[in-house]
Amino acid sequence: MDQYDLRSDTVTWPTPEMREAMATAELGDDVFYEDPTLNALQDEAAALLGKEAGLFVTSGTQGNLSAALAHCGRGDEAILGKTAHMFRAEAGSLSGMGGVHSSQLSDQPDGQLPLDAIRAAIRVDDEHYPRTRLICLETPHADCDGTPLPLEYVQQVAAIAKEHGVALHIDGARLFNAAAALGVPAAELVAPADSASFCLSKGLCAPIGSVVVGDAAFIERARRIRKMLGGGLRQAGVPAAAGRVSLQRMIGRIGEDHRRARMLAEGLAQIPHIRLNLERVQTNMFYLHLLPSAGINPLQLSQRLAEDDVLIMASRDHRERIRLVTHYWITDEAVEHILAAFRRALNHHS
Ligand SMILES: Cc1ncc(COP(=O)(O)O)c(C=O)c1O
Repeated sequence: MDQYDLRSDTVTWPTPEMREAMATAELGDDVFYEDPTLNALQDEAAALLGKEAGLFVTSGTQGNLSAALAHCGRGDEAILGKTAHMFRAEAGSLSGMGGVHSSQLSDQPDGQLPLDAIRAAIRVDDEHYPRTRLICLETPHADCDGTPLPLEYVQQVAAIAKEHGVALHIDGARLFNAAAALGVPAAELVAPADSASFCLSKGLCAPIGSVVVGDAAFIERARRIRKMLGGGLRQAGVPAAAGRVSLQRMIGRIGEDHRRARMLAEGLAQIPHIRLNLERVQTNMFYLHLLPSAGINPLQLSQRLAEDDVLIMASRDHRERIRLVTHYWITDEAVEHILAAFRRALNHHS
């Protein structure tokens, strides 16, 4: 990459090996179930996560929506966090596309929904109420400092879900980051859930796509929803070929992104005018605050950094957090360059 792009891990380019795999992939028509490369990816993803079947989808959003609508009908209710990506940043798709009512709970700073609040949100069977059909968790929780949910917590939520006959879906857009941070195999993290989705196109570096996993009957339902959403692709083996490289090559190295996030955070924490909580740096994303003493606002900081080829996402408001995300293209040397760029940008006005 020709810039040091910390805005997200979605900015990652495919590696040369992925480009080669895409160029030479064996192809078929996936709407006819005939794309061998795509079928292999789905089978490999399902096996990796210990589920019966997998479904390639165009994006994390399409995966979460396909899963949610495979669990819920119109007027049913899904319990999820107010800052969960599925509620906050998927264009209202649950209600807009699926007529699914949401019960929004307050996420704790560590991304957990309090167990008592989940229990209290599950409706009794009464014609006045929507039927609770689904609980959604997010791990790592993108809005809560990229914090992974501990396995025991997921198991506790799953036990509540099971007791009430409610499904549990995990939005694991960065599931393998959570697994690496916790030192727990991803399959164990999703074992208590009925379904999970993870993205190939974030820390795993593929250009396009996510995978939803679950039992075979659920995946057939999700496949039909995916079709409704325009996600029935034809020669989808092209992106799937890159996705297979993601599974083979990228999962094992993801801890490096966490190590570099920490290097970066530790360096930034020493720069005046920056406030960040090092304890919260657990995966490849963390947030910092630019203090008013900097004399420039986050937008001006982003402009100064861009002059040094460092990209961050920033608003004009000092109260807004700035999120930084490391990924495959952020190397040790890049971290040094980024720290120097921050020092330069902030010295300007100190
Ligand atoms: C936690 C989480 N879930 C889902 C998504 C949606 O993924 P996509 O942008 O591929 O639709 C994102 C995107 O950043 C995310 O951070």
